[in-house]
Amino acid sequence: MRMYDLIYTKKLGGALSPEQIAFWVKGAADGSIPDEQSSALLMAICWRGMSTEEILALTLAMRDSGKRLDLSSVPGLKVDKHSTGGVGDKTTLILGPIVAACGVPCPMFSGRGLGHTGGTVDKFAAIPGLKVELSEDEFIRSLAETRFANSAQTGDIAPADKKLYALRDVTATVESIPLITASIMSKKLAGGADALVLDVKCGPTAFMKTLEDARGLAQSMVDVGTAHGMQIRALITRMDAPLGWAIGNALEVMESVEILRGEHGDTELAEMSFRLAAEMLIMGGAAKTLPEAQAKVQASIQSGAALETLRRFVALNGGDVRALDDFSLLPQAGKVVDVLADRDGCIAAIDGRALGLLAMELGAGRKDRNDVLDLGVGIRVRIRVGQQVKRGEPVFTLYIKANQTISDAFYLSTLTFKDAPVEPGPWLLASLAPPEARS
Ligand code: URA
Repeated sequence: MRMYDLIYTKKLGGALSPEQIAFWVKGAADGSIPDEQSSALLMAICWRGMSTEEILALTLAMRDSGKRLDLSSVPGLKVDKHSTGGVGDKTTLILGPIVAACGVPCPMFSGRGLGHTGGTVDKFAAIPGLKVELSEDEFIRSLAETRFANSAQTGDIAPADKKLYALRDVTATVESIPLITASIMSKKLAGGADALVLDVKCGPTAFMKTLEDARGLAQSMVDVGTAHGMQIRALITRMDAPLGWAIGNALEVMESVEILRGEHGDTELAEMSFRLAAEMLIMGGAAKTLPEAQAKVQASIQSGAALETLRRFVALNGGDVRALDDFSLLPQAGKVVDVLADRDGCIAAIDGRALGLLAMELGAGRKDRNDVLDLGVGIRVRIRVGQQVKRGEPVFTLYIKANQTISDAFYLSTLTFKDAPVEPGPWLLASLAPPEARS
């Protein structure tokens, strides 16, 4: 088999066979196929797309490039969640403990942040002492003892994805529905969960800018999961403004803990986390209907069971649980400054991508994979879309290094003001789920 023929076939819009796809994935991972040929094929896939059969074959080949986790020693249906990534998205920290507290084991592998989006691993790393890279035994122990496990993805799960993702990152081939589907689903299938809830982000800050594209990605992942016997459903959620008030790792831990304490329960972040958790409870068999699942979610917050589960997870994995009560034990910024509104008006839009990049510049995110983060820095977003503000009111509070200087103008340029009132749009844009599960 020649790699040249695969590239040529796809360049003309033809279909690759499962054998050809397996040949490419194996060769890309073991280095026998040069990067320039893989890059050429990736670009051809971006332009020409792939059929469902090809996406399935690509997902399987990537899944089988590494290890598959066996979680069968932990009783119950294991339910995972994946989000396609957003600014201020700390839903995993909130819903993981909720779902586990409601009796459904929740195994999750997370990523580190890159560019404008943060990573769940970095957020958990802000809890002093917490081990964020668990061995397989530690991961299974955490799941068995607390029903919640979260760890950085280990290198032996879908290693072909690591190689191909690095090539996509530098060849402008990340935004392709077949490639995103295979990348995410290969890791999820190897991770050993029985069911998966997807949060597909849609909007100017997300990979998928239009509802049509977001639906396409969601459907593609649902098709692949279903074909492999995984229960799967997807919510499509709006991504433009940052999710919640916190951007930055320690700040995001604080916001998550506040929600688990029962504060800010009416915010978009809380509503979204609770809804995703409810979907997970239905999939895990802990509730039959959405209202029943939502009632269980609320009970886990009100009784303190969800926060207690987070404490047990943190304690088991070496973290300092006192930091969940006393936020002064979390990493701190060198200084705190406010950015004040320079006009009166109604907030019509908040540019989450631009704020994510500004947080990255402060040291909360990575420009390069090897950057070391400052876990204490970040941004408190003090306004919401639709809110009226007066000139001189604080719109952002910045947590920065002691020697850092900032330009207010950059922060203010992330806001769009209108004189007339603005109604914020719904956060839930669509859902894809088996009809028999809805009521
Ligand atoms: N996240 C992944 O893991 N893979 C992609 O291709 C895109 C987002």
